[in-house]
Amino acid sequence: MCGIVGYIGDKQAYPILIKGLQRLEYRGYDSAGIALLNKQTVLYKQKGKVSDLEAHISGRTTDGTIGIGHTRWATHGEPNNVNAHPHSSFNNKFIVIHNGIIENYSMLKTKLIKRGYKFSSETDTEVLANLIEFIYLTGKVTAELAVRLALSKVVGAYGLVVMCKDEPDKLIAARKGSPLVIGVGQGEYFIASDATPIVEYTKSVIYLNDDDVAVIKKDELKLKTIDNEDLTPKIQELDLDIGEIDKMGFDHFMLKEIYEQPKAISDTFRGRVRKDHSDIHLGGLHEVWDDLEKARRIIIIACGTSWHAGLVGEYLFEEFARVPVEVEYSSEFRYRKPIIFSDDVVIAISQSGETADTLAAIRIAKEAGAKVLGICNVVGASIPRETDAGVYTHAGPEIGVASTKAFTAQVTVLTMMALKLANKKNKISDDKFSSLINELTLIPEKIEIALKANKEIERIAALYKDSTNALYLGRGFLFPVALEGALKLKEISYIHAEGYPAAEMKHGPIALIDEQMPIIIAATKDSSYEKIVSNIQEVKARKGIVIAVVTEGDETIKGMADHVIEVPEAPEHLAPLLTVIPLQLLSYHVAVMRGCNVDQPRNLAKSVTVE
Ligand code: F6R
Repeated sequence: MCGIVGYIGDKQAYPILIKGLQRLEYRGYDSAGIALLNKQTVLYKQKGKVSDLEAHISGRTTDGTIGIGHTRWATHGEPNNVNAHPHSSFNNKFIVIHNGIIENYSMLKTKLIKRGYKFSSETDTEVLANLIEFIYLTGKVTAELAVRLALSKVVGAYGLVVMCKDEPDKLIAARKGSPLVIGVGQGEYFIASDATPIVEYTKSVIYLNDDDVAVIKKDELKLKTIDNEDLTPKIQELDLDIGEIDKMGFDHFMLKEIYEQPKAISDTFRGRVRKDHSDIHLGGLHEVWDDLEKARRIIIIACGTSWHAGLVGEYLFEEFARVPVEVEYSSEFRYRKPIIFSDDVVIAISQSGETADTLAAIRIAKEAGAKVLGICNVVGASIPRETDAGVYTHAGPEIGVASTKAFTAQVTVLTMMALKLANKKNKISDDKFSSLINELTLIPEKIEIALKANKEIERIAALYKDSTNALYLGRGFLFPVALEGALKLKEISYIHAEGYPAAEMKHGPIALIDEQMPIIIAATKDSSYEKIVSNIQEVKARKGIVIAVVTEGDETIKGMADHVIEVPEAPEHLAPLLTVIPLQLLSYHVAVMRGCNVDQPRNLAKSVTVE
């Protein structure tokens, strides 16, 4: 949530910062700003997209080899030019960009007002800038000490970068709860809230830990704790290619990422599934299989799309490994005083690895003594660092705000985990295990086939793009797919959509059905096929419009539905990986036709680092 970028070196900072902000825009996009430190320091801010900021700056001075930039997702104060970052302190000594929330900002603000400080914005960040300045001026201390002392008074989360006009040879960066990465170049450093703005300049990076403070000059980096203990920076090699963060000829990142799913899934099981399909090796879980085998229960915690993947996980673990599973929204779990046993295993699922509610839920589970595992896409993010063990999805960077390939990669990991656990617990024979693994490895090519329906899906989208409501139905393994399809539609096209287990329709939603209402039904051939066919008839009897996702060659549903979209045949536990593809494409095309900003839907941000 919000994107931070900073540069210090010999190059002109502005082009690096503006490009960095464009790369980070998926994290927040209601306003943006840049500050450049020079003989004459300049600060530009603009409501709207990074392109609006660029237009605003065009023709103005952009000289300077040190600078910071920010793209905002509003928490305190509405999106406007004043609340946009960077924020200058009252006496103009400091300029600050900040991600996260300063929870005690109101108390700090009142104290600063009493000391004569005036505020121009409604943000907690301006309070931080003024607090640093107040300590700097009254304590007559260095900028670095002022930052560390100020942070010791702050309650909340931050990833921040500070410039001090009196000390124009450095940037000061600090992290608590909101990620920061430092790129190490030759006589230059880059700072960002994730590696996407850095990768084209250097692959050597340092991930800051909570309570780290970095004092960065162009040819020197000092890392310490907030309490002034020296730390040795750990330089790591970035596993990211510039091609992965480009649209590569697609109109939108979302479409590119939908099409990347065969590869994302193959990459996720590559090297983990034995060539002869006799075993699955998940290195990150090596130490915890024992805990999984003995687990009294598995609790899955996640938010949004990752929560939907978790629901598929519940069905998989219960069906194959015969272990009870509960799937919880992280935000509920963390506050509702759940009962957690020390022999529970908790699995946290998160694409970004930074979701604040999921991180908080992990901490609660750990305190209760449970083993906590992570399934995460972003390498080095907070969740994989805080969990006891885990598995990375290898989906590659997901830039579109609507999650697509992360979902199918998460389901792939959950499938591998459930099958391996089932085999270890002797719930499935070696032969069955091997044939189930074989089926999983066929999924990427089946997705390639499912993607061929794109043109037909676009045609269907054109017919229903002006709908105001949509209902998504599915049973069994396809119920989470119904939820996911509805979420995709509402988040990028702003059409109200709901997902339901198909049988629940009779308990309320059936009242909504009329001739205008598209009902999207995931209805591939599985153990509840006959029942879903009856549900389709119930919808048709009430004149609802049925768009059904069916197994190739299904003539029965073809005879009843208004439209069918075919996917290849697969065992029912793998059907979510196929049936979700047409639903992603349908949402995509509807959103494009409605003129919505597909990659950056309103009010959303990619990584939700505030609760
Ligand atoms: C929906 C979407 C969100 C995320 C949710 C969790 O398309 O992207 O619902 O799934 O914010 O994010 P992660 O997986 O990063 O924890």
